Amino acid sequence: MQEKIDTLISEIEKFAAQSKEEVEGFRIKYFGKKGVLADLFSEMKSIAPEMRKDFGQMVNNLKVKAEERLESFQQALESASDSQKPKDLDLTLPGESNAIGSRHPLSLVRNEILNIFKRIGFTVADGPEIEDDWHNFTALNFPENHPARDMQDTFFISQEGSTDSIALRTHTSSIQVRIMENSKPPIRILAPGRVYRNEAISARAHCFFHQVEGLYIDEGVSFADLKQTLLYFAQEMFGSDAKIRLRPSYFPFTEPSAEMDVSCQICKGKGCNVCKYTGWLEIMGCGMVDPNVLENCKIDSTKYTGYAFGMGIERIAMLRYDVKDLRLFSENDVRFLRQFKSE
Ligand code: PHE
Repeated sequence: MQEKIDTLISEIEKFAAQSKEEVEGFRIKYFGKKGVLADLFSEMKSIAPEMRKDFGQMVNNLKVKAEERLESFQQALESASDSQKPKDLDLTLPGESNAIGSRHPLSLVRNEILNIFKRIGFTVADGPEIEDDWHNFTALNFPENHPARDMQDTFFISQEGSTDSIALRTHTSSIQVRIMENSKPPIRILAPGRVYRNEAISARAHCFFHQVEGLYIDEGVSFADLKQTLLYFAQEMFGSDAKIRLRPSYFPFTEPSAEMDVSCQICKGKGCNVCKYTGWLEIMGCGMVDPNVLENCKIDSTKYTGYAFGMGIERIAMLRYDVKDLRLFSENDVRFLRQFKSE
């Protein structure tokens, strides 16, 4: 034992370090939890009682030596790094400025949409991007095996050992279901978020995009309320001379359903290549919430009615900024992104 300790002491005396890492290595070797000293102290138990005092002194001596060595190298390194500091530091030089980024155009448009509706009492709700069949389809009145499910080509997710159907949400209507299930009318919410559809990527379509959907449920909500709310939105978003028109359409979760067009703000309705010479641009789907959906979410459909609408943020942003290719929004090319500045 004496010998072992002597070798350790001479090792400590010979130890030399150039770098912080070496000093740290030394500290860990001797003072670490599983280090040399911890080992020796734990051997104390197995030493014959009459030898214990001498052994203790030897180990202590070793510890003091190691501490001194460690401290002297730590100090040497510190003073070396002090002397490396530039002596001619000019504090009057201008600092390096940080480049200021800009908000993503989709965030700008989303915030604009949210603010317009917040002014008339809507609040914002959130939900998961991976959804179960109930929240994305069934509660929304998409019957099993109904062709309506094909309207939105879905990315299903397989789970090992489970047959439960889960998927990347195809619309943010799933958030509306969650809110209806968990709160009592009046409900007035916006559901913004990213949605996914299994579509070929082109200038006009992508496998993911962003939506803002809205939902209002209370006693006596009518189609006239929906129409007036959407007119208010269109005029706030596109200008006070914007007109809207509603065309009959179909969604499983609304009845009646409509597609909303806004008058083309580029040609002011005269006809141009953006509106394909019709004077109108389609911007959202909407309708009165189907009573089946209310019942699925435990809301009394004899007492309450509601409207819902949903729009793609990319579509609005393309119109707002005259962007011709949807893919630009997700390519993260700074030359594209830095053109958008928030006011
Ligand atoms: N959820 C529909 C979609 O994804 C949009 C919509 C929302 C239509 C609410 C009507 C009412 O296309």
